[in-house]
Amino acid sequence: MPDESARPSPDTGGGLAPWQRTAAGANLLGADGHLGVTIFEEITALAVKNNAINLGQGFPDEGGPEEIAQAARQAITDGHNQYAPGKGLPQLREAIAEHQQRFYSLNPDPETEIIVSTGATEGIAATLLALTRPGDEVLTFEPFYDSYGAVIGLSGATHTTVPLHAPDFEPDTEALEAAFNARTRVVLVNNPHNPTGTVFSRATLTKIVELARKHDAVIVTDEVYEHLTYGVAHTPVTTLPGAADRTITISSAGKTFSVTGWKVGWVSGPDELIAQIRTVKTFMSYSSGTPFQMAVTQGLGLGNEFYNGIADKLARKKDVLSDGLREAGFEVYSPRGTYFVIADAAPLLGGGRFTDGIDLARQLPELVGVAAIPVPAFCHAEGAERTNSLLRFAFCKTDDKLTEGARRLATLHDIVE
Ligand SMILES: Cc1ncc(COP(=O)(O)O)c(C=O)c1O
Repeated sequence: MPDESARPSPDTGGGLAPWQRTAAGANLLGADGHLGVTIFEEITALAVKNNAINLGQGFPDEGGPEEIAQAARQAITDGHNQYAPGKGLPQLREAIAEHQQRFYSLNPDPETEIIVSTGATEGIAATLLALTRPGDEVLTFEPFYDSYGAVIGLSGATHTTVPLHAPDFEPDTEALEAAFNARTRVVLVNNPHNPTGTVFSRATLTKIVELARKHDAVIVTDEVYEHLTYGVAHTPVTTLPGAADRTITISSAGKTFSVTGWKVGWVSGPDELIAQIRTVKTFMSYSSGTPFQMAVTQGLGLGNEFYNGIADKLARKKDVLSDGLREAGFEVYSPRGTYFVIADAAPLLGGGRFTDGIDLARQLPELVGVAAIPVPAFCHAEGAERTNSLLRFAFCKTDDKLTEGARRLATLHDIVE
C-alpha cells in the first residue's frame, strides 16, 4: 500500500524537494512520491506498439517554409555558431518588434522590452520563477498546458485554477472573480488555448485585465498559437486598455513556422519586469540557437501570404479530422484556434465498453490504430473528474495521415454498436 502521508500535494508543496514539487505540479508524481509514468508516455508507447497514427503529440510532421530552413543552414555555413547575446540577437529583437507593430500596432523597444528565450517554455519558466514566491498564488485556466503546473510547483507558489467548460471553453465570470484575491501574484493566460482550442472573447480578456488591476496581479500571456486562428482575429492581451503596464507576452517560432525543435521564443513587456525576468533567464540558458535566431529573424519578415496561409491550410485539416471524429460517434467541439480539437466521448460510453475517456484513449490505438491524449492529463484531480470524457486530437499532421486517421476513427462507430 502506498504511504498516504507521502502523497504529494500540489497545493502546498510542503516538504517536497524542488524536483518533486515540479513533478507533482505536472501530474508526474505517483502516489508514493516517486516518478510515475505520464499519460503522454503511456499513450505514446501504446501508439508505437500498435503502429497507430499518433494524433496525441502536438507537433507538426511537416516542415516550415524552405527559405527559413535555408537561412538556418546558411547561418551555420557562414560561421554564426557562437553564443548570441543573452537577450537575443539585435536583429531578431528588431524583427519581433516589427512583427508586433505590423500585426498589433504595438511599439515595444527591442533594447529593453524584448528578450529572446529558448522557446516559450523557458520564457514561461523564467517569468514565473522571477516573479513568484512561496505564498503567492498563480491563477491559470483549467485544463492547462503541463509546463505551467510544473514551474508553479517549482516556484513554491500555489496553483489555483478557473475551469473552462464545453462547448465554448470560456470561463464563467463569477468563477473568475472568485478565483482572484490579494495573494494572486500572476494570472497566466494561454490564448489561443491548448488543449481546448478556444480563443477567448474580448469580454473575457477585458475581465481578466480588470481583475488583474483590481488585485495588482501581473498578467502573463502565452500566445504561441497567435497565428493559428480560424475566422477570428487574435487579440494580444497587452493591447487592451489598462493591460500594457502589467502584461508579459510570451510567444515562439515553433508553431508559426512549424519548427518546434528550434526552440526560439521571446518575452516582451514593460522594461522593469523584463529586466527582472532576464536576470533569471540569463542563468537558465544564457542564450541559445544563434543560427536558428538568424533564420527566425527572416521568418518574422515573411509576407502576409505566408501568415494567411498558415490558418487556411490547418482549417482544412481541422475539418478532415473533425468529420472522422463525428462519424466515430464523438461530440466535436470545433476549435477557434491552435491545432487541437477536443472530442467528447460521452456518446460512446453508454454501452459499457469504456469506463471513461482515459480508458477509451488507452484502448483506441489497439482498436482502431489512432492515438489521442485524454484531457484529464492537463488538469488537477477535480478538473480531471470534470473532463473525464474528453480527448485531445492534434491535426498538425500530413494530409495522408489525417485522412487515414479519420477513416480509422470512423470505424469506431461500428465497433461500439
Ligand atoms: C500553450 C503552449 N505554450 C508553450 C508551448 C511550448 O513552446 P516552445 O516549444 O516554444 O517552448 C507549447 C507547445 O506545445 C504550448 O502548447
